[in-house]
Amino acid sequence: MTLSDQLGGLRGKRVLVRSDLNVPLDGNTITDDGRVRASVPTIKELADGGARVVVVAHLGRPKGEPDERYSLRPVAARLGELLGRDVAFAEDTVGPSARKTVDALQDGGVALLENVRFNPGETSKDDAERAAFADELAELVGPSGAFVSDGFGVVHRKQASVYDVALRLPHAMGQLVATEIRVLRRLTLDPERPYVVVLGGSKVSDKLGVIDNLLGKADRLLIGGGMVFTFLAAQGHEVGKSLLEDDQLDTVRGYLSRAEESGVEILLPTDIVVDTEFPTGDREPQPRVVPAAEIPADSLGLDIGPESSRSFAAAVSDGRTVFWNGPMGVFESAAFADGTRAVAQALTEVDGLSVVGGGDSAAAVRQLGFDEGAFGHISTGGGASLELLEGKELPGIAVLER
Ligand code: 3PG
Ligand code: MG
Repeated sequence: MTLSDQLGGLRGKRVLVRSDLNVPLDGNTITDDGRVRASVPTIKELADGGARVVVVAHLGRPKGEPDERYSLRPVAARLGELLGRDVAFAEDTVGPSARKTVDALQDGGVALLENVRFNPGETSKDDAERAAFADELAELVGPSGAFVSDGFGVVHRKQASVYDVALRLPHAMGQLVATEIRVLRRLTLDPERPYVVVLGGSKVSDKLGVIDNLLGKADRLLIGGGMVFTFLAAQGHEVGKSLLEDDQLDTVRGYLSRAEESGVEILLPTDIVVDTEFPTGDREPQPRVVPAAEIPADSLGLDIGPESSRSFAAAVSDGRTVFWNGPMGVFESAAFADGTRAVAQALTEVDGLSVVGGGDSAAAVRQLGFDEGAFGHISTGGGASLELLEGKELPGIAVLER
């Protein structure tokens, strides 16, 4: 069903669209525009149908008040280029600039509101405060307006522009959200086997729920990235100055023994690329490969080593369903990108469904020069894709489906 069918026609209708335009910025330069590109089809469908499109989005985590560093202005420019039409930018979210900008929209026009998280009501844990802000958002499009939820990366957040506003306006799911949940639910329902999951990124504590859940589902779990050092430490190894979450050691030991009992294979790296300092750009990296069990006290692990890259690649490429979330190392530095590159390459060779999840892994495959078409699906959601995999109810989806 088209958005026009779902919303009872589009021409002249004011439609508030929640997109996830939370992109990495270097000053005013967008270093990875993947989320902006992923947001275009829905905005384009609405604008082409003659709607007056009001896009609401966040950038980073400002503290509920305007903060120039988190302005969406550079994103408005990029969105306009990608859409091939002007995008009017409002200097506030629900204030005088927003009202004026929305009032000036013609049929087929598109406006982007300033960072929704400049308003404390957006992320408030207080239902009434969020509701009051959602009222203001809904008023922008008025009683004949509608809401389209397309910010997949934030559907796990119970926030005003994601959740509460859907209670106030006729609503529909945008193309991006619909595609994301269709593909990701295939991973939770009946994945073709072997089902391989690769997890990386810095924190074990972010991945607890998904590891817990996958121990009953996946055939193989590969662990890399900063979180691997908590696993190595849990096995009794010294990890030097590497990232370590002491408070997760017992949990991780529990996972390792549960994996053994349930026959899930957990693959940890056998070698690690270390340096004595985190790469900062001020200093030439001095990478060294050491056995995973022998990380020197003065060093920290920054990537999986070449032997591990080979074993990880082999364990990925014969999977029939593969989900990958989180880089294997500090891929932003060329000296520590090989592990992430090897895993990405192996995903492109999968005969079956390969899914890249998470802002960082998605940025990594593009930054390392992979063709996006070589993967089955690149999710725009980090936390959202993990929570979907965990089988959790996502507030921003539940509110649309009920
Ligand atoms: C993300 O980057 O994961 C999404 O945009 C959600 O952002 P958040 O984690 O700050 O809610
Ligand atoms: Mg996040």
